[in-house]
Amino acid sequence: MSDAPTPSDPIRFVLNGEERSVGDLPPTTTLLEYLRRNERLTGTKEGCAEGDCGACTVIVAEADGKGGLRRRSVNACIQFLPAMHGRAVETVEHLGQGGLNPVQAAMVEQHASQCGFCTPGFVMQIHAGWLNGALADRQAVKDLIAGNLCRCTGYGPIVEAGLSVAQLPPPTDAAGDAALARRLTAIEGNGVFSYRAGRDRWFAPRHVDELADLYAAHPDALLVAGATDVGLWVTKQHRSLPLIIDISHVRDLQVIEEAAGRIYFGAGVTHRAATATLASVHPDLGEMLRRFAGAQIRNAGTIGGNIANGSPIGDLAPCLIALDAHLYLRRGEEMRRLPLADFFLDYGRQDRAPGEFVVAVEVLRLAGNQRFFAHKISKRFDSDISAVMAAFRLSFEGTTISEARLAFGGMAGIPKRAARAEAALVGRPFDPPAVEAAVAALAEDFTPLTDMRASAEYRLKTARYLLRRFALQEAGGFTPRLADVTAEADDAATGEAA
Ligand code: FAD
Ligand code: FES
Ligand code: FES
Repeated sequence: MSDAPTPSDPIRFVLNGEERSVGDLPPTTTLLEYLRRNERLTGTKEGCAEGDCGACTVIVAEADGKGGLRRRSVNACIQFLPAMHGRAVETVEHLGQGGLNPVQAAMVEQHASQCGFCTPGFVMQIHAGWLNGALADRQAVKDLIAGNLCRCTGYGPIVEAGLSVAQLPPPTDAAGDAALARRLTAIEGNGVFSYRAGRDRWFAPRHVDELADLYAAHPDALLVAGATDVGLWVTKQHRSLPLIIDISHVRDLQVIEEAAGRIYFGAGVTHRAATATLASVHPDLGEMLRRFAGAQIRNAGTIGGNIANGSPIGDLAPCLIALDAHLYLRRGEEMRRLPLADFFLDYGRQDRAPGEFVVAVEVLRLAGNQRFFAHKISKRFDSDISAVMAAFRLSFEGTTISEARLAFGGMAGIPKRAARAEAALVGRPFDPPAVEAAVAALAEDFTPLTDMRASAEYRLKTARYLLRRFALQEAGGFTPRLADVTAEADDAATGEAA
């Protein structure tokens, strides 16, 4: 590939109703930097610069391919500006034109703001929820704002503000949405978007074949999907990313299809878009996704990104490994199918060749003779990375376990099955002796690390408790509290000294 400069397209997008064209900023300029420094739209705040506090929440809209718009709230601090090409951005400044917007008015009426630093982020998040019909009840409002931090007001009044807005019909403007969708489609155009600033380049293909060609030609490029991992490499690690292929415009990667009990999730499907389908496989998966990051991250982060990042503490991989999911990987014209469990080779190393990308993940629905369990343990209940993620699938012949798939995150350098514990279960009924044999075998399967999230001892004990919890649920049809299983009982069962 020649290093001769290629012509650069400007980044064209709509900001608060007006079109912008940017041609001279580095591709890794974040949307937040651009809004605050270049546009002086300082209502959008910077708190953490890592997607954790929600102070930078903005709404991004794009054409939905059906003549309308798809709107989602995102963290501007970890979105790159070129990713906005062909999209529309709305900031808090745009809401209050001609008086307070109903969300802003509700925040005032409910005394939901003190220092006010977090307030624009909450307003934008609740506004997005209002527009998308996501304020159904108190729990829905709490889930919606789980990715927004407030240090002084307390969340009660903010939740009340959300609930009072939910009583109002959301503003609808189908004609306006259709006009904006047409405008965005025209801006996005056809073919690969190609942006260059200095020696740094950004490509955004629109079709999977274009992506395959581009990546084969530039195997050293970094793929970016939702940027919820990669954004932090820039804001926190100050890494230089000279060549990026943005796959967030590749609509062929954003489909969910089902045939013969197999569900295919395109790699570009966001966690938000995957939630209903995964929850229909098993409610534990819906609950796991409810607690996966905050809504803004789930609106941007993708299934493919969560797998391809190879994280030992990613939440999806253990769940999908327990479900015996398979990956489809493509390099140029070649496609291969791989058991997800075999994708993770070692810490930071996956079975993925240069120029190869994840196209889809295939997930099997549960059969009538299978039981499933998934549970996430994290320091905070909401919006936190796991200390331990456990997912189990047992298959039965009569009352005998014919296959066991026990997968864990946070227990090793990769998401991993517990081979010895599985062997301790197969061929036996799912009764206390079999469970305790498997519980004891977990210590042979894993030597977890101690880090800032949890100690090795805590991780191992938690893994054991989770296996017992699954067994108790299956046996009694009730959900025990973990506190009911005492440390003494655990130590006695596994032969450890207290
Ligand atoms: P990106 O950041 O775009 O990419 C991540 C990596 O995957 C990069 O190396 C990229 O090159 C590669 N990649 C992306 N797509 C492909 C593809 N199709 N083929 C090959 N390579 C690809 N994760 C959890 O599991 N649980 C959590 O609770 C959680 N909470 C979070 C909270 C916060 C505040 C933040 C910032 C992150 C959190 N994450 C969590 C991590 C992150 O959101 C997920 O891993 C997410 O799924 C990554 O997807 P993405 O599309 O944003 O990936
Ligand atoms: Fe905290 Fe963006 S500044 S989420
Ligand atoms: Fe001060 Fe929320 S009002 S941080």
